[in-house]
Amino acid sequence: MKIVTIVGARPQFIKASPVSKALAQAGHQELLVHTGQHYDHKMSQVFFDQMSIPKPYKNLEVGSGPHGQQTALMLERIEQLLLQEKPDRMLVYGDTNSTLAGALAACKLQIPIAHVEAGLRSYNRQMPEEHNRVLTDHCSDLLFCPTQTAIDNLAKEGMQNGVKLVGDTMYDAVLQFTEIANQHSTALRDLDLTPKQYVLATVHRAYNTDVPENLRSIMSALVQLGLTVVFPVHPRTRARLDALDGHAPDTPTIKMVEPVSYLDMLVLEQNAKLILTDSGGMQKEAYFFGVPCVTLRPETEWVETVDAGWNVIADTDPEKIIAAVRDKAWPTTAPPPVFGTGDAAHNIAAHLSEAPH
Ligand code: UD1
Ligand code: UDP
Repeated sequence: MKIVTIVGARPQFIKASPVSKALAQAGHQELLVHTGQHYDHKMSQVFFDQMSIPKPYKNLEVGSGPHGQQTALMLERIEQLLLQEKPDRMLVYGDTNSTLAGALAACKLQIPIAHVEAGLRSYNRQMPEEHNRVLTDHCSDLLFCPTQTAIDNLAKEGMQNGVKLVGDTMYDAVLQFTEIANQHSTALRDLDLTPKQYVLATVHRAYNTDVPENLRSIMSALVQLGLTVVFPVHPRTRARLDALDGHAPDTPTIKMVEPVSYLDMLVLEQNAKLILTDSGGMQKEAYFFGVPCVTLRPETEWVETVDAGWNVIADTDPEKIIAAVRDKAWPTTAPPPVFGTGDAAHNIAAHLSEAPH
């Protein structure tokens, strides 16, 4: 089967890595298309290099911009490519503007769409990701769900046909790359960190970066913690912190660094005492490694991690954040395996082989 895959943002490169391998092994022809939504070396190329992701067949070089403009440029360029290539199927990942543009372009040309990470919901319509995932699910005919919760969410919206429980491709990636990361990464030495003596933090959601009080509140919590905090800073957050005069903390305990590579991140996550994040991917990775997580959002899509006691929703409230870090009694047994068995990519490739085309 000839498949056009759309990726564009950091977590999509990570999700695509195991799937591209499995598609090739199953004999599918994949044209991997990069929209150019993320473009800095540390947000894009480093993942292709470290994770052996095939060089994109084409980079649409859309870059940054307001949502409507960015999505429209992608839509136009993806449509042109689909008209030329006439694939049997479109494959999209997650919930970014690249996801929606890929799905819309294919939908208008009646090319069947497979959505990896279908069925995720925050039920918060303020989030751009929630619009993207709902719209993408509703125009997809193969909905690859990572968890039973995702299947149940789709059922509530009347979607049952083409819904497949496949597991989580980020779990596949963690299983494939953790040993390599532990052998090769020098992140702990480079950042002068002692295992289990530091907190790892990331922040990039619009809710936290574009609302100055929320960003100030998070930074104030990090300072008040009084622990060593390693904070790889997303370029969006860097720009907002620079604008928040005086709120990028000047303290030796907070190590603000550039975005780190995937292999370095796997090592930083495993060795962290705790992870503070608004990232969807990092909430899951904390869970895979059995590292406690405090989520800097009012809700999460990954409710299993909260139900199992490994994730606490603290929003941006310093009191809640500090209480969760200092006082919470974390589980003493390993997190239940609710994200599959590491064969999500294989399952996806197999379902695509069975699908009519
Ligand atoms: C996007 C996704 C979000 C995902 C995140 C993963 C949407 C609506 N949001 O958010 O769901 O969790 O990616 O990281 O699709 N920038 C750079 N260099 C880059 C990329 C971005 O400097 O390589 C800066 C630009 O100023 C840009 C800003 O970051 O305007 C935001 O980038 P954008 O891709 O629009 O959204 P993200 O916040 O990265
Ligand atoms: N990640 C990384 N380096 C960083 C920050 C994140 O490699 O500096 C990885 C992280 O391990 C996870 C993914 O990027 O696999 C999460 O992406 P992000 O937080 O940008 O987006 P989200 O998951 O929230 O959509």
